[in-house]
Amino acid sequence: MQKKRLFTGLQPSGTVHIGNYFGTLKQTVELLKDSDGLVMIADYHALTTLKESEDLRKNIVDVVRDYIAVGVDPKSAIIFQQSSVSAHTELAWIFDCLVTVPFLMQAHAYKDKVAKGLDANAGLFTYPMLMAADILLYDTDIVPVGADQRQHVEYAREAAMKFNVAFGATFKEPQEKILDSVAVVPGTDGKKMSKSYGNTIPLFGSKAEIQKAVMSIVTDSKAESPENVYNIHRLVRSGESLASLYNENKGKYKTLKEAPVDDIEAAVAPMRGRRESITDADVKNILKEGGVCAREQAEKKMEDVRNKGGVTV
Ligand code: ADP
Ligand code: TRP
Repeated sequence: MQKKRLFTGLQPSGTVHIGNYFGTLKQTVELLKDSDGLVMIADYHALTTLKESEDLRKNIVDVVRDYIAVGVDPKSAIIFQQSSVSAHTELAWIFDCLVTVPFLMQAHAYKDKVAKGLDANAGLFTYPMLMAADILLYDTDIVPVGADQRQHVEYAREAAMKFNVAFGATFKEPQEKILDSVAVVPGTDGKKMSKSYGNTIPLFGSKAEIQKAVMSIVTDSKAESPENVYNIHRLVRSGESLASLYNENKGKYKTLKEAPVDDIEAAVAPMRGRRESITDADVKNILKEGGVCAREQAEKKMEDVRNKGGVTV
């Protein structure tokens, strides 16, 4: 049986947190065991918000390290930068010409920015069509992501359908892979953990940084078991042993907060070790080779797209 094609990506827009890990990175590693995979650093997407070139450069290298540290093997999956395959922005333009402004206006990421009165630049507005191009260029079957990306994958299906209807069958419709139990990992304030809310627990922070973040988890002082702490702790400790910890320590918030620090540390330490062994030169090589492989595949697809679209004469 032919292996499924997996495609996923992360914006290099800040420090990877445990919400990213449990929501998408961990299941990506699992799914890659029996699929062909492409893992993309979405640097052009990050430009919608990030305007500091040195930060972007550093984040790109860090995200590659993070992917490898959590278990993505660059020998079997293609790890590459979005900006190194210009077919992504080219195809995004074609999709922009197929969808309407009201359709793009319904996108949550755009609506949220507008609602907060933030700078909703045109890149943010067309963000879903660049993401559709990322996914569709490689005949992707599955896209492992967290729940907040569901709509973007739906938009990719819509873009595929619009192109296929206009120009003939070309694109496969991809399916998002979202794990219900970790679809929305809560942050230290109980809301969705997110870089933009300042409520994260960094995945590769030092033990002291993890401790500081865990100690800042907002607790409900009326309940005997702090729900926010529990909802984070359950990610790193199994049901039974977690239940007995909570039974034995009712109302002892300090103990209940110290325990997840040790459990997170135990889960992360081996990955941290692997992360530290990856040099900048390793990262550069991986991205260079990944770029070559991805470009070759994308270019083949674009030839078909340009032909069908009628721009080749
Ligand atoms: P952030 O909200 O911190 O900026 P991103 O938008 O960069 O995170 O998300 C990167 C990936 O991690 C996406 O697949 C997203 O769905 C997933 N993800 C982010 N935050 C969470 C969370 N709190 N719970 C589950 N998955 C998450
Ligand atoms: N939008 C995704 C995020 O913010 C990143 C991303 C860009 C992506 N292109 C993708 C994820 C393609 C999966 C597939 O996390």
